[in-house]
Order: sequence, then structure tokens, then C-alpha cells
Amino acid sequence: MNSNAKPALRPYLPEDAEIAAAIFVASIEQLAADDYSEDQQDAWASAAEDLEKFSARLGGQLTLLATLDGAPVGFASLKGADHIDMLYVHPDYTGQSVGTTLIDALEKLAGARGATKLTVDASDNAAEFFTRRGYIATQRNTVTINGEWLANTSMTKTLAGDASGGAEQ
Ligand SMILES: CC(C)(COP(=O)(O)OP(=O)(O)OC[C@H]1O[C@@H](n2cnc3c(N)ncnc32)[C@H](O)[C@@H]1OP(=O)(O)O)[C@@H](O)C(=O)NCCC(=O)NCCS
Repeated sequence: MNSNAKPALRPYLPEDAEIAAAIFVASIEQLAADDYSEDQQDAWASAAEDLEKFSARLGGQLTLLATLDGAPVGFASLKGADHIDMLYVHPDYTGQSVGTTLIDALEKLAGARGATKLTVDASDNAAEFFTRRGYIATQRNTVTINGEWLANTSMTKTLAGDASGGAEQ
């Protein structure tokens, strides 16, 4: 669905849990299908099955919700000072700068708080997105979730001297 609106951001609230979980699951099912098997996607998406736990994870981090025309379409979270834990855009709204707007904001917030770098364990389908934003692969990992092995890549971006994340307004 193409919207002419620019993505807007607001902090994640506990009442966003259901919509964030729906975005998370749809994003994995539709955007990760080329790189992960159905069993792997199910294991990955199972993190949203316990809504309370999922919401506590988002609420315990610096989580931003992106909206288009007021409707939530994606979210991203910063764990600790300098690790991107989650970045998910609803498949109906990709390619509209939602992911870029979210990561620009997290990079600025982390930089303003004194972080000199950001790290992310990027899924294979998202690695190119991060590479385009200046993240460099540092390590290949395999993690096990619900008995399924999933590969990802640890990536780092240096923020020192570029706390704006390269996004001039
Ligand atoms: C990766 C993701 C967040 C990108 O969101 P998005 O809103 O479509 O990203 P944007 O519209 O801001 O795209 C910015 C640029 O990256 C490109 N891009 C976006 N996703 C890409 C991908 N998966 N592979 C390659 N390029 C990608 C876009 O084409 C765009 O390029 P342009 O600037 O030349 O036009 C989204 O595809 C997603 O939610 N993926 C599934 C969940 C996931 O794996 N999350 C990461 C967990 S670490």
C-alpha cells in the first residue's frame, strides 16, 4: 500500500503491543521467506506469542513506533546504549522510508546519549539494508530459537563524529 505521507514517530506504549506483534509476525512471514524456512520463520515469530513478554521486551528498551497517516506500520528498539534489537516494518508498507526513519532516529538518540557505535545482529534479509546505511559485518552467527537454527550477521556502524547518522534534516 503506497501512502504519500511521510513516516512519523512516537514512543512505543503498552497499548501498542497487539499491533506491534502483528507487524512483527507479518514482517517475518512475508519479508524473510526468501532466506529462512517456514519452520525457522515460525520459531522467530514465536517471540510474539506471549504478548505480555513481548510487550515487556519492547517497553524495557527505547522503542519507537512509526506511523503512516496515524496508523502504526513499523517499530524499532534500542537495547542498552548501542544495540539495535528490533526493526520491523509491515510488508504492506516497505520501501516508503519507514525503516530508514526509524534507524535514523535510533542512531541520533544513541549518539546524543554518548554512544560511539551501534551494533545489530542483522537477519540475512535485512543485512543489505544495514550495509547501505554504513553498517559493516563483523561476525556470522547461528542462534537457536525453539530448536531451530537461524543465521544472522553482527554488524557495526561507527557514530563518532557522525551522531546524526548521516541524516541531515
Ligand atoms: C529491513 C526493513 C526494516 C526495511 O524497511 P523499509 O521500510 O522497507 O526500508 P526503507 O524503505 O527505509 O528502505 C531504505 C533503502 O533500503 C532498501 N531496502 C530496504 N529493505 C531492503 C532489503 N531487505 N534488501 C535490500 N535493500 C533494502 C530500499 O530499497 C531503500 O533503498 P533506496 O534508498 O535506494 O530507495 C524491512 O524490510 C523489514 O521489516 N524486514 C523484515 C524484518 C527484519 O528482518 N528486520 C531486521 C531484524 S535485524
